[in-house]
Amino acid sequence: MIDKVKAGIIGLGRLGRSYAQLIQQQVKHVDLLAACSLSQEELAFAKTKLNVQYAYTDYHQIVNNHDLDAIFLLSPPQQHAMHIIDAVNAGKHVFTTTPLGTNVEDCKAVMKTVRSRPSQVVMIGFEHRYDPAYIKAHAMIKKGQIGEPVLIQSSTFDKEKNDSYYQLYGPKAGGIFLELNIKNIDIVRWLSGKEIQSVTAAGGAYKYDIFKNLNDADNVMSLIELEGGGVANISASRLSQDGFNTKTFVLGTEGSLEILDSSPTEAIRIYDTDGIKTQVPQSYFERYELALLAQANDFVSCIQNSGSPNVFLEDGLEATRAAVAMTKSFLLKQRVEIER
Ligand SMILES: NC(=O)c1ccc[n+]([C@@H]2O[C@H](COP(=O)([O-])OP(=O)(O)OC[C@H]3O[C@@H](n4cnc5c(N)ncnc54)[C@H](O)[C@@H]3O)[C@@H](O)[C@H]2O)c1
Repeated sequence: MIDKVKAGIIGLGRLGRSYAQLIQQQVKHVDLLAACSLSQEELAFAKTKLNVQYAYTDYHQIVNNHDLDAIFLLSPPQQHAMHIIDAVNAGKHVFTTTPLGTNVEDCKAVMKTVRSRPSQVVMIGFEHRYDPAYIKAHAMIKKGQIGEPVLIQSSTFDKEKNDSYYQLYGPKAGGIFLELNIKNIDIVRWLSGKEIQSVTAAGGAYKYDIFKNLNDADNVMSLIELEGGGVANISASRLSQDGFNTKTFVLGTEGSLEILDSSPTEAIRIYDTDGIKTQVPQSYFERYELALLAQANDFVSCIQNSGSPNVFLEDGLEATRAAVAMTKSFLLKQRVEIER
C-alpha cells in the first residue's frame, strides 16, 4: 500500500485554487508536490502558498513527472479528455472534475484509454454522490420508501456575476448545460436509476448578451423523459441573487422527498433586528466543500487500496451525452431522442 500518494494538480483557476488548498490542508495521505497553470500569478501562489516543488506551464511536464502518482484535473472542460488520456498513458491515477469530455467521442476515447490501464484509478467528480443529504435520499429511494420515482425536479442556480466576468469566462465554460446542469443530469440518473430517453430544452440569454453571442443562455429549463417511465425537469440560472444553490425534489408512487441545500452555513439561523436569516453559500465550492473533501479522500483511498470509486466513467459519458443533447435541443428548438 502506498503510504502517501504524491499528487499534482492541473488548473489553479476559480475552483482549482480552492481545491488545491483543500487537498494540501485537509485530504489525508496525500502530498501535493506539483502544480500546472498557464498563469504565472497562479504558479507564484502555488510556490509560495502551496509550497509545491514543481511548477509548470506545460501540462506534459506534470503528467510525465516520475515523482508523481496522481493528477487532480481542474483544467477547462474542452481540455479534460486530452489531459486525462495523456496522464493515464503516463501511468498516473487521475481525478477529474466534470465534465469527462465536452462530446461523446471524447468521453469514449477516455474510456478506451482507461480500460487499457485497469490498475490505475480514474474518477470523475460528481460530488453530490458524496453529500450526506443526497446519499441519504438515494438510500431511501433504493429501499423503496417513496415507491418508484416518477417525477424529479433538480436545479442549479449560480450567483450572478457581472458582464466583464462573463466576457472572460463565458467562452471557456462549455455552455450552460455542460457547466451548470451536468450535476443535475447525474442526480436524475442516480436517484431514478434510469437512463435518459429524450430531452426538450428551452431558455435564453435574458440578461447578458454575451451568452446570446455564444449561442448560450443565462437561464434554461429541460424536460427529460426517462427510459421505462418517469419524467424530470432540470433547470439552471446564472442570475441567482442570494448565492449558489442546488435543489432536488423527487416524487415517487408512494411518497416524495426534497433535498434542500445542506451546507453548514445554512444550518444556522440568525435572529436579529432585521428578522430571521440564514447564510447561503456564495459559490459551488462553499456549498460542496465537505463533499469534495470526502470525494478526494475516496480517490486517494482507492489508489492506496487498489479499490474502485463508486462513480463510474459511464456516468460521466451519459451526463455529457445528455448535456450535448440538451444543447442541441435548445439550439434547434426541438425534442431530441438520445441515441446510444
Ligand atoms: N468554477 C466552479 O465553481 C466549478 C464548479 C464545478 C466544476 N468546475 C470545473 O472545474 C474546471 C476548472 O474550472 P474553473 O472555474 O476553475 O476554470 P478557470 O478558467 O477559472 O481555470 C482554469 C485553469 O486551468 C489552467 N489551464 C488552462 N488551460 C491549460 C492548459 N492547457 N494546461 C494547463 N493548465 C491550463 C488555467 O491556467 C487555470 O489555472 C472546469 O472543468 C469546470 O467545468 C468548476
